[in-house]
Amino acid sequence: MIYQSHAVYFVCVGCVLQSGTHDGDIYDGAWCARYKDKKQWLEVDARRLTRFTGVILQGRSSIWSWDMVHTYKVQFSNDTLVWTPCMNGSKEAVFEGNQDAETPVLALFNTSTAARYIRINPQTWYQNGTEGDICLRAEVLGCALPDPNTIYAWQTEPTGSKDKLDFRHHNYEEMRKLMKRVNEECPNITRIYSIGKSYTGLKLYVMEISDNPGKHELGEPEFRYVAGMHGNEVLGRELLLNLMQYMCQEYKRGDQRIIRLVKETRIHLLPSMNPDGYEMAFKKGSELAGWALGRYSYEGIDMNHNFADLNSVMWTAIELETDRSKLINHYFPIPEMYTSEEAFVASETRAVINWMQNIPFVLGANLHGGELVVTYPYDMTRDWAPREHTPTPDESFFRWLATAYASTNRVMSNPDRRPCHNKDFLRFNNIINGADWHNVPGSMNDFSYLHTNCFEVTVELSCDKFPHASELPIEWENNRESLLVYMEQVHRGIKGVIRDRDTEAGIADAIIKVEEIDHHIRSVADGDYWRLLNPGEYRVTVTAEGYLPSSRTCWVMYDHYPTICDFNLTKVPKQRLKDILAKGGKLPKDLQLRLWQLRMRKLRATTKAINQRRAAAAKRAKRV
Ligand SMILES: *[C@@H]1O[C@H](CO)[C@@H](O)[C@H](O)[C@H]1NC(C)=O
Ligand SMILES: *[C@@H]1O[C@H](CO)[C@@H](O)[C@H](O)[C@H]1NC(C)=O
Ligand SMILES: *[C@@H]1O[C@H](CO)[C@@H](O)[C@H](O)[C@H]1NC(C)=O
Ligand SMILES: *[C@@H]1O[C@H](CO)[C@@H](O)[C@H](O)[C@H]1NC(C)=O
Ligand SMILES: *[C@@H]1O[C@H](CO)[C@@H](O)[C@H](O)[C@H]1NC(C)=O
Repeated sequence: MIYQSHAVYFVCVGCVLQSGTHDGDIYDGAWCARYKDKKQWLEVDARRLTRFTGVILQGRSSIWSWDMVHTYKVQFSNDTLVWTPCMNGSKEAVFEGNQDAETPVLALFNTSTAARYIRINPQTWYQNGTEGDICLRAEVLGCALPDPNTIYAWQTEPTGSKDKLDFRHHNYEEMRKLMKRVNEECPNITRIYSIGKSYTGLKLYVMEISDNPGKHELGEPEFRYVAGMHGNEVLGRELLLNLMQYMCQEYKRGDQRIIRLVKETRIHLLPSMNPDGYEMAFKKGSELAGWALGRYSYEGIDMNHNFADLNSVMWTAIELETDRSKLINHYFPIPEMYTSEEAFVASETRAVINWMQNIPFVLGANLHGGELVVTYPYDMTRDWAPREHTPTPDESFFRWLATAYASTNRVMSNPDRRPCHNKDFLRFNNIINGADWHNVPGSMNDFSYLHTNCFEVTVELSCDKFPHASELPIEWENNRESLLVYMEQVHRGIKGVIRDRDTEAGIADAIIKVEEIDHHIRSVADGDYWRLLNPGEYRVTVTAEGYLPSSRTCWVMYDHYPTICDFNLTKVPKQRLKDILAKGGKLPKDLQLRLWQLRMRKLRATTKAINQRRAAAAKRAKRV
């Protein structure tokens, strides 16, 4: 894969530098030579005349074996026929490669050379018993040279973006400054807040975008994007920083689509869930940050395995409980074991869980890197069965959500694109059930679905976890439409307000059931609710404590706005009468009748009791 920019080429072989143990094929994301001798080479075509300046090498880190190249030579060519060796003074240069499988090692050429092709030619390598392979991951450094007659040009690739955004990598300080600037430019529609702190004390900043920042509005759905859960997967962070700048600019410019989104949605953007990890990766930079450096929290926790595993709670209950009516299918409580002091839960994870509990999110996505695919829950397989599709009851809507992002993403939707690693997600239209790909207990998606109302998917944004800054404008172009389209999906399905028929007050915690979907949603504080659904006809039933259930049919259309399905609930008669009489209020007609019936019943009961007593007394009198 070749990345082009105005000044610099980064050639990344097999899309390298960031592969891992989960990728599963025998090469595990690395290049391996067929034979084990000094004549093996890996050739890269830069597709135009390039001044090559250096090479970065990594070994192969696989679950099966570790392989690395200790020393190597380099050759250049303009035509692949005549090759010129890379020299070191008068001798052929022999570069130091890797001593372990993970750490990237940089080698700069003694004198830079102009050419179109470059070869990496291993000389010595680590032999892992007799199985020892010549395997490596590599990145080639160089600058594109002017090519006025386009003799070397292979094809022109798009490089820029017409949007005027701050395209570079932002560390913690820079990120804070950028967010502040956006807030100053658009004070009417933005607000910055923090949901907590990282282990080392960096704040987890959120940018809120809404026409009424700081407030939940009745009926307005809440949306979130979370990036940087793995600190070294940095593209999501920059895309969210781009997104907030873009929305501010477009809102002011009068862009109707953005204005509508801002008016009808409360949007929350958390660009960096793991700022400690990011700072570690940022210090190394795009080329030298490896697959794992900065992925974890400061304490070494992988946050995407760190949420409470509610899947097991649910599946155990299903196995043990024979009475199906007693099973719950939503709002699973967090097990005590997880909330105890001893539980190994990152402060960042705890902060995000609090956030999820405090804001009634309807839809979200978390942004990752290292692959190109959108994954939807469940992320965990039932019974640890390997490679088993584990769908949620909302499978069809989750597939729609994943497709909404994947089909509008310019890289994913390109039918000629190459797979990042061993798995060709193009065959699955770039979406996959998380558990089908790899089993993740305690993922954010599963937790979100089982503990809250919020539906969430994972977006793997790019093969390279830490793309070079020069690639950011094109990555923004690749993702801009998908980021917007995905947010707009929060307006699909049905929504409404659940009220008390008499007082017209909103009812919180009412349960919204959709026939044939075994996953309920609850109304929030003011009685408003959102139920994401694909187009169709649905029988919806609402229940709430102290109220009679109520059902109606709601149709979901293909439009970009939800169907309004309000419910007026009637109190259980006894409760309702008590409430009204206690307040000395006037009884509505149905209740007058009800009260009369109740009184009649009481009267009948009393009469019956008196009669029985009389009869008994008469009997006794007779006997006497
Ligand atoms: C490739 O061609 C360029 C331009 O003609 C020349 O400067 C350079 O030395 C050539 N490189 C090699 C390796 O022959
Ligand atoms: C290149 O190699 C020569 C000979 O070993 C050495 O004298 C010179 O300093 C080197 N130059 C660089 C830039 O490393
Ligand atoms: C280049 O030559 C110098 C001096 O002989 C030596 O120290 C250095 O290791 C060589 N470097 C490479 C990459 O061959
Ligand atoms: C914010 O809203 C006020 C009142 O509507 C308006 O006068 C002002 O120009 C707006 N500011 C910006 C930066 O859009
Ligand atoms: C609920 O009650 C209000 C006020 O009486 C009424 O305007 C509304 O149409 C009712 N909604 C439904 C769905 O019955």
